[in-house]
Order: sequence, then structure tokens, then C-alpha cells
Amino acid sequence: MHKREATFLDRIWRDTFGLVPPSTRIIRSPARNLWRDIFDGLADAVIAVDGQLNPIAINPAAETMLGVSQLGRTLFANIVRHNDWLSRMLRTCIDTGQNLGDPDAAFNIGPRAVTVRAEISPLAGADGQIGGAIIMLHDLSHQRSAEHAVEGPGQLRLSPAGLAHEVKNPLTGIKGAAELLATLHPEDKRARQYCDVIMEGVDRIASLVEQVLAVSAPRRVRQDEVNIHKVIHQAMRTAGLFPKPPPEIIVEQEFDPSLPEVIGDEPALERVIVNLVRNGLEAMDNRGKLRIRTRMETEFRLAAEGKRRQFLRIEVVDSGRGMTQGELDQLFTPFFTTKPAGTGLGLVLSQRVIALHGGKLWAERGGFEGPETSTNPEARSRGMSFKVTLPVKGQA
Ligand SMILES: Nc1ncnc2c1ncn2[C@@H]1O[C@H](COP(=O)(O)OP(=O)(O)OP(=O)(O)O)[C@@H](O)[C@H]1O
Ligand SMILES: [Mg+2]
Repeated sequence: MHKREATFLDRIWRDTFGLVPPSTRIIRSPARNLWRDIFDGLADAVIAVDGQLNPIAINPAAETMLGVSQLGRTLFANIVRHNDWLSRMLRTCIDTGQNLGDPDAAFNIGPRAVTVRAEISPLAGADGQIGGAIIMLHDLSHQRSAEHAVEGPGQLRLSPAGLAHEVKNPLTGIKGAAELLATLHPEDKRARQYCDVIMEGVDRIASLVEQVLAVSAPRRVRQDEVNIHKVIHQAMRTAGLFPKPPPEIIVEQEFDPSLPEVIGDEPALERVIVNLVRNGLEAMDNRGKLRIRTRMETEFRLAAEGKRRQFLRIEVVDSGRGMTQGELDQLFTPFFTTKPAGTGLGLVLSQRVIALHGGKLWAERGGFEGPETSTNPEARSRGMSFKVTLPVKGQA
């Protein structure tokens, strides 16, 4: 039980109804219609009692909750007897004039129990004397059952993996049906177009779900020996730069062929490089320079497991539009994207993969020289540099 502030209902009862004689339901009168309508329209159950705990008014929500059409003295006395908390609160309220509440009470109605939030307020007459109390009960059972559905043991658990599964299942059906529809109307160009829209949408949702899953699920990376140059070449192929880049793109490769191998997850590392390369290409509208460089870091550093390790470094530098400091600050925030079809998860996921390998991924503004004539230092350096470090195989 705890004290609570007086509600607007307290005032309605005090100012409008005054004290209604015991055992009478409120009589309708034109002047009272509005208040009566409000009272009847409340979703919460409201029961007013006099000083002897006889019911003097009840609204339809309370009748529904109690399963009665008329609440008589005997029935209500019975209910109070089976709900200790209610009789205690009513007595205290009428004796002291306090507002009382219980956020989570079991309200016993015959053989049933309803979980309610209860509020008890004093009912004062025109003379200011407390002559009864108002009981207001908010049914929590729907809310509770929804909570249980999410939290309950063995029940509907909204794990990212489960959700991804639930979303992807119908997607397969939608995609199949769209493909089928297209074959049913081979002559109709528009049908083909609509089906393409459906299938593209489905692919996008599927890849988004995949990425959300990858970001949120605590994943472990594989521990294979990985040649980082093989990963980079494969990524360049996927991004359309290898064996030959598009005519308007100049790719500068500066690889250190003596680099040792990395222990890690080849497909995951490839996805990281693909995202960095694609981001670079997208930032320069497929026209400009992209530099990919690998080298050994000169210093040994402590890796996550406390051993001294040597790291290699990969840099992906583009001559694109670059980004503002504000964009840079948000760069690794999930769902930050400036692209109409971007997920804004590429870099978040990449950073996570690199961290799982014991390395680091970060971004710096600039990388390529801009027009040297410019007096503005910002304009003299163009594009973005993305840098990755990874611990190499072996230890010092
Ligand atoms: N090389 C870059 N130059 C300029 N802006 C970049 C560069 N790389 C990333 N960004 C900015 O960072 C945002 C987030 O990149 P991220 O890879 O996380 O998602 P995305 O590329 O928007 O979406 P997705 O990777 O799913 O295609 C991009 O939308 C873009 O605004
Ligand atoms: Mg991206």
C-alpha cells in the first residue's frame, strides 16, 4: 500500500455527486449526464462505497469485472471479505482520508482471481466530511499475458535468431510465388516489373534480417589460417574491381607480399573488405581512385589474450565525397546511412568482425590529395581512409 495523489475522479465525486444515499444507484438527471457518461465510459472499474462499506455506485466496467448487473450489499460484503487487502485499504482510507494504491493486487471474485492495479480515494461530502471511498481497479491480466508470452519459460521468445527465422520463412514463399506469377504472364511487361519489385524487396528484407542477426547475435569467428591478400582479391572480385575495374575507376594496389597469415574467418573478413570497397566506390559515384594497401605494423602490441602479437594493417582509401565531422561521429552507429537503399549496418558489422579477431577498424577523413591550390586544408585532402589492423599468426 502506498499513498497516491488525488485523481480527477475524486473531484468528480465530491463536486458533482456529493454523497449518494446507501444502496441507491446514481439517478440520471440532465445536469449529470456528462459526468454519468464519463463514469460509464471509463475502461477502469469504479465502485463507490459509503462509510459502512455499502456500495453506492458502480460503473459498467466494474459490473463486467465482477460479472454482475446489480451490486448489492451482501455480494459486495462477500467480495470485501475475500480480499483482505481491499478491506484494509478501505478502512484506512475512510479513517484517515488518505489516497491509497496497490500496483499489483490479486482481486478475488468468487472462484476467479483478476490481477489489478487498485486505487482507493476518500469520498467527501459537500461538508468536507469523509463519508465513503472510491475504488478504482485497472485490469492487468491482458498486459500480464502479453508479458508472459515474451518472457515466460519455453514460450514465444523474441530472440534475434528466432525472429530472423520467422521473417525469412514467409519470404521464401513470397519470392517463389512472385517468380511463378512472372512465368504465368510472360507477355506482360508490367507483370514482370512488379514481380521484380517484389523480389528485390524480398532480397532486401532477407539481407537486412541477416545483417541484424549478425550484429546482434554473439558470434564466434572461425579460426582458420587466412591469407589476407587472397581475401582482398576475392573481395575486389565481388565488388566488381577484379580482374578489371570499370573504366572510370583507378585502383592502386600496394601489397606487401611477405605478410604472414591471419588466424580467422575468411568469409567474414571478405565481407568486411567488400563493404569498405563498396562504400568507397559509392562515395565517389563510381568515378575516381581507390587505394588498397597492406603492410606490417612495426610495433608489437598486446592482443586481447594478453600475449604480445604483431599486427598487419589494411587500408582502403577513396577519393570520394568524404564526410563531415558529424557523419564521422555517427559512422559506427547502427542504421546510420545516407544511402536510399543502405542498411547502415555494414560498418557496425565490419567493426564487430574485426574486434572478434582481436583487431581494430576505424575511419579517418581524407586520404587522397585534393587541389593543391586550395587554401582550405579540408579541401586539400579528399575522400576517406578506412584502416584495419589484425593480429598475425604466431607470437613473439
Ligand atoms: N568511404 C566513404 N566515404 C563517404 N562516406 C562513407 C564512406 N563509407 C561509409 N560512409 C558513410 O557511412 C554510412 C554507413 O556506412 P555502412 O557501410 O555502415 O552502411 P551503408 O553503406 O549505408 O549501407 P550498406 O552497407 O548496408 O549498403 C554510409 O551511408 C555513408 O554515408
Ligand atoms: Mg556499406
